Amino acid sequence: MNLREQLLQLATQIETEIPQLQSREDVEAFRIRHLVKKGTLQALVEQLRTVPKEDKPEVGKLLNALRDLVQSSYDSAFASFAQGASVDRIDVSLPARDEKTGSIHPITQTMDRLIAIFSSMGFEVAEGPDVEDDAHNFERLNFASDHPARDMQDTFFVEHADRSDVLLRTHTSSVQVRVMESMKPPIRCIMPGRVYRNEAVSARSLAEFHQIEGLYIDKGVSMADLKGTIMAFARKFYDEHAEFRFRTSYFPFTEPSCEIDMSCFLCKGEGCRICKHSGWLEICGAGMVHPNVLRANGIDPEEYSGFAFGFGVERVVLMLTGIDDIRHLYDNDFRVLSQFTAQ
Ligand code: PHE
Repeated sequence: MNLREQLLQLATQIETEIPQLQSREDVEAFRIRHLVKKGTLQALVEQLRTVPKEDKPEVGKLLNALRDLVQSSYDSAFASFAQGASVDRIDVSLPARDEKTGSIHPITQTMDRLIAIFSSMGFEVAEGPDVEDDAHNFERLNFASDHPARDMQDTFFVEHADRSDVLLRTHTSSVQVRVMESMKPPIRCIMPGRVYRNEAVSARSLAEFHQIEGLYIDKGVSMADLKGTIMAFARKFYDEHAEFRFRTSYFPFTEPSCEIDMSCFLCKGEGCRICKHSGWLEICGAGMVHPNVLRANGIDPEEYSGFAFGFGVERVVLMLTGIDDIRHLYDNDFRVLSQFTAQ
């Protein structure tokens, strides 16, 4: 065996010995075997003389690399077994370490559940842009040109070189307009998304939040269909024994308009913290699509009718969880988020 082969053999031997160094005695024996004057390494160094001149640089290099390996392996093994050093061994009797994994945010979890229920009722999901224009957010939803909701107080306008009608949508109702532009009735869509309002941030409201809009247009759609749809949804989502009340309301794009309340799923109408002791929870705004809206979007109100509804998703999460400050949903505080890991 020439010197090169002996070196490689010693290298392999050392590789197998290193993991077997389990005590100070093992480490000391390793040192005496390889690193002392009469050790394996020195024996090979002495043989270097016999190597033909042209092979010396290469064999010399290998020898140096091997010496470095032996020395550094010895140093680290020595350090880990030095007096007082802690020995990092695996105690198989200990419980496993708890690995923390990410999870879906409670708002997304709630949106997914809302979407799953409406999908099972035959609604498709449609989406539109967050940055909108006045036509989609207001004009074609029958907002009069002097309607207060267009005011700077409520709407964030977007600076644009040559347009003054660009804004962040204030509701997902803008997607109703986009859906009517691109689809012919029958239309049955839900439209989840982020909306923006220039409002003071407080325990009850944020300037940026989520809504889910619903739109159903076909021949002969009536208020009874609206009621039936919302009640079927709420009985699946919240409480199968829920009772409902429909209060008249006003939205420019629906006529008649209503707000829908459901008996509190927690106290069943008795009154509790979740329903602010009223026994009722407001679940959404809704109404029959205004004939002006159908007309403005190319649908003949003589032939078709429809209903629409809109939920605030954060409100749904607060209601379900009893969290009393909407800002907790956006703090990304691990103590809050870790309560919603179940999927
Ligand atoms: N867009 C309304 C809002 O933001 C909610 C709504 C949607 C009401 C659809 C009626 C019909 O408050």
